[in-house]
Amino acid sequence: MDKPRRRRSRLRRTALTSTLTREPQPVGLLADRLNGILAGRGIDPGAVAAEPPAEPVTALELADARIPARYRRALADHPQIITWADHIAHAGRPGPSGPGIAEGPSLLIAGPTGTGKTHQAYGAVRALLTRGVRLRWEAVTTADLYARLRPRAGHDAERDLQTLARSPLLLLDDLGAAKTSEWTEELTYRLINHRYEHMLPTLITTNLPTAELRTTLGDRVASRLAEMTDRVILKGPDRRRHRSP
Ligand SMILES: Nc1ncnc2c1ncn2[C@@H]1O[C@H](COP(=O)(O)OP(=O)(O)OP(=O)(O)O)[C@@H](O)[C@H]1O
Ligand SMILES: [Mg+2]
Repeated sequence: MDKPRRRRSRLRRTALTSTLTREPQPVGLLADRLNGILAGRGIDPGAVAAEPPAEPVTALELADARIPARYRRALADHPQIITWADHIAHAGRPGPSGPGIAEGPSLLIAGPTGTGKTHQAYGAVRALLTRGVRLRWEAVTTADLYARLRPRAGHDAERDLQTLARSPLLLLDDLGAAKTSEWTEELTYRLINHRYEHMLPTLITTNLPTAELRTTLGDRVASRLAEMTDRVILKGPDRRRHRSP
């Protein structure tokens, strides 16, 4: 092992032993004992402490791992979405590794089934990443959201809701598609209201025509959406049934 590496692994072993012991003990002795135990089990202490080789991973590659396979290469080609991504990337506070994401407008991507709403929404997330925006984001369909937040033992639903509500960017897919109740209405209200008040960019997709937003989601949610979102209306056939050759 080269010298700096040996010193690093020794330092690491030292830190390990000093957190494990209660009585102050000579650290060198303990490290030697630990090495003895590892060697007795056929483990090379140097190999245990060695760092994995660093591989360069871009923010886009990391994001791709979280994007559902179907939308992993999605490109937002709608002009309004490109304009939105440019705006958000420009407005972000500058930082050492690219602009951050701050307050900004949200998008409501509406249209019938299969017109590419989810595709455009994930495309928008990817567009921000390719523009170098440092991004923490969450994505959830409303049906999954309600299932996730349903009260059950040993699960802190409130914390889950807060994570989504406070996420710097949220993709809320298929709003209005799940069965509603007073409980889902209240939950949607709390989520949207937090994002409305803090002006957090939110990508929302929905099958609902504008006129039905109020009756399905309730007036309080529809009113906030009207103010906080730019509308993107997608038209055309169901792309799932009319695939280009
Ligand atoms: N611009 C595009 N270029 C290539 N493929 C696309 C594009 N838009 C959508 N698709 C593909 O078309 C199919 C339907 O798209 P998507 O799932 O985004 O529709 P949707 O509007 O969200 O439908 P739903 O309302 O049922 O959720 C997917 O296979 C998607 O990958
Ligand atoms: Mg969809």
